[in-house]
Amino acid sequence: MSVPKPSETFDASLRPAGGRSPSDSLIVALDFPSAAEALALADQLAGSCRWVKVGLELYLAAGNPIVAELKGRGFSIFLDLKLHDIPNTVAGAVRSAAQAGASLLTLHAAGGPAMLRAAVEAASEIAAQGGNPPQLLAVTVLTSMDAAELAAIGVAQSPAEQVLRLGRMAMACGVAGLVCSPEEVAMLRQNLGNKPLLVAPGIRPAGSAAQDQKRLATPGAAITAGASYLVVGRPITQAANPLRAAQSILLEMESAQKSAR
Ligand code: C5P
Repeated sequence: MSVPKPSETFDASLRPAGGRSPSDSLIVALDFPSAAEALALADQLAGSCRWVKVGLELYLAAGNPIVAELKGRGFSIFLDLKLHDIPNTVAGAVRSAAQAGASLLTLHAAGGPAMLRAAVEAASEIAAQGGNPPQLLAVTVLTSMDAAELAAIGVAQSPAEQVLRLGRMAMACGVAGLVCSPEEVAMLRQNLGNKPLLVAPGIRPAGSAAQDQKRLATPGAAITAGASYLVVGRPITQAANPLRAAQSILLEMESAQKSAR
């Protein structure tokens, strides 16, 4: 496989504020079928990584208790449920998911403006009642999809065009950010500025296997492009030494952040 060349350097004046440290910007995807396996990996990473992602595989197996358990061990949680249903159902799902205590929650931008607005409203109501809802992230085009996959579902635009279209629409509905491939991060920053949180999966250190990911980049390239958070699964979870793999990604992120300053 070939990892794409670093995407064009992002205009530093648009860099997201806050200057998060690498360990605050790396989200490790705990894609495991059981709580025991997820916790074993999380325990190896504790101290080096701050964020973990609970996705559909783990959540459907272990539910809110695994979110609470990981929180109890000091991790911040990205709950990647990719909600996509009618507005009323998604608003209810946001209320239920808020009880899990996640900091970030995903929903599909393709669900459309009414669904996105209903989700944003549900989160605002929770906040107005003194609760602590997750920040909502709209998934644009899955990083496993390329132009041929988009054409197969009736989308004639290129992945980048479709990402921008969905991204603009979702931000106008009030979500806090977007999930996109690292290939689109610089383009989104140029078009949408530094306000959106841009969360990029499809990260592969140079020389590692692409697996089912099609639109990808190295950790350094994704940071240079202006990503707020990187989501990394198998390059860490399936490494012979997951802690060493995570630390090497963190080092690459740090040096990309330094050279971007
Ligand atoms: O193992 P890998 O690094 O490919 O994992 C990437 C993670 O990011 C997976 O958990 C996947 O569900 C998630 N993801 C993605 N593409 C998106 C949104 C989320 O790969 N557009």
